[in-house]
Amino acid sequence: MLIPFERDCPVAVFDSGVGGLSVLQALLARLPHESFVFVADEKHLPYGDKQQAFITQRVLDLCAWARGLPAKAMVIACNTATAAGATQARVRHPDWPIVGIEPAVKPASMLTKTGVVGILATSNTVASERFRLLVERFDPLARVLAVPCPGLVELIEECPMSQERVRARLKPVLDHLLAEGADVIVLGCTHYPFVKSLIQAQVGPDVPVIETGLPVARQLHQRLLEQGLLQSALPEIAKEDSRRVTFLTTGDPAAFKAKLLSLLGTDWRDATVGQLDV
Ligand code: DGL
Repeated sequence: MLIPFERDCPVAVFDSGVGGLSVLQALLARLPHESFVFVADEKHLPYGDKQQAFITQRVLDLCAWARGLPAKAMVIACNTATAAGATQARVRHPDWPIVGIEPAVKPASMLTKTGVVGILATSNTVASERFRLLVERFDPLARVLAVPCPGLVELIEECPMSQERVRARLKPVLDHLLAEGADVIVLGCTHYPFVKSLIQAQVGPDVPVIETGLPVARQLHQRLLEQGLLQSALPEIAKEDSRRVTFLTTGDPAAFKAKLLSLLGTDWRDATVGQLDV
């Protein structure tokens, strides 16, 4: 028998690894009174080239776990996992807010002047049916060139990250997109915002590079508001971001903590990272 979720419960957020932290930053900024449980499924990283059925099962297992906490909502802070399992998770938990993330094809289609939009994503996202349908919707507005970047997630997960190797991995992909006329680049994987400055430097200042954390935060805000689940205040102690989030990993907690500090900064030194076995 499941415990009912209520306003005081945390929001669960998950990704295969550190990518979801880029979404978490937007959630913390947009929802100042909420607390979060962040799960990094590092044991199964990367999701980008695993079997779709396996990722779907991870989404269902992690949703079932978070619903049992209970968390009052789930943010699937991963494009690959959203494509593989958001629909199935919503069928299983029809009353529970589940917010996913998709590449920002619509805003990019509005922005492009050349009519060509470049999308960087994982192989699984690019190959998914959900992505195909998304692209089809904006087809008349823009030609969407989606390019998988195998290996990039692993480079971003390295601690410390080698900027040189990331640049070398990105160069052929970005050169190809620019040569095809892309004048907007969409970051279709939540890991990529952590190398946005390197991407921007390679494509130049006139090519917008779009990420999707903020729209996800807005959507969660809206869902919580509609369902009467939005917190209006938190105790004083929880005002620091590092105390509003409990981190869990299916991998190595010490290694995750090191990545957290390296990507989000030393303000997070008091954050606790626990082990999750789901
Ligand atoms: N961060 C995830 C995404 O947005 C995927 C990373 C992975 O391949 O595990 O797609």
